[in-house]
Amino acid sequence: MNYPAGTPGRGAALVEAKNGAQVLVVNVMGRVFMDAMDDPFAAVEREVEAAPLGRVADAIVVDIHAEATSEKQVMGHVLDGRVSLVVGTHTHVPTADHRVLSRGTAFQTDVGMCGDYDGVIGMDRAEPLRRMREKTPGGKFEPAGGPATLSGIIVDIGADGLATAVTPLRVGGVLAPT
Ligand SMILES: [Fe+2]
Repeated sequence: MNYPAGTPGRGAALVEAKNGAQVLVVNVMGRVFMDAMDDPFAAVEREVEAAPLGRVADAIVVDIHAEATSEKQVMGHVLDGRVSLVVGTHTHVPTADHRVLSRGTAFQTDVGMCGDYDGVIGMDRAEPLRRMREKTPGGKFEPAGGPATLSGIIVDIGADGLATAVTPLRVGGVLAPT
């Protein structure tokens, strides 16, 4: 939602789920340690105000794709009570802080990746290791080819669209299943 105007693609969509529920899905990019985007908080506010939970949207899912844990947590607190789920992505590693915030929004700082955790954030480990030791550009990153872990999050929501329970999902690969 917060790429500069005119960038191809879209950062939000109101989609109909199989059960007929209207689900607003929003993706914003963080700004800490990343190239300057427009304000992610203002971008999310616009979308949530246009399709408020319980009036237009039956559920609202916000993905904040960001480097810093702090920025993702701020987004969770800012939206607590107004969306069903705020979940972080981008660091590729699941965090252990999944919970329902005090006003009813499910939250996890980072949901983790779907990929081979025995590599380096999903890449074959040889090139990241070489680059970090030699500090020179060179080879190409290749996806790690070992067994993948599927990482996700399951959120139970009530009729008001707020979360009642949140459970991490991890299946396959080298991580402990949950
Ligand atoms: Fe990313």
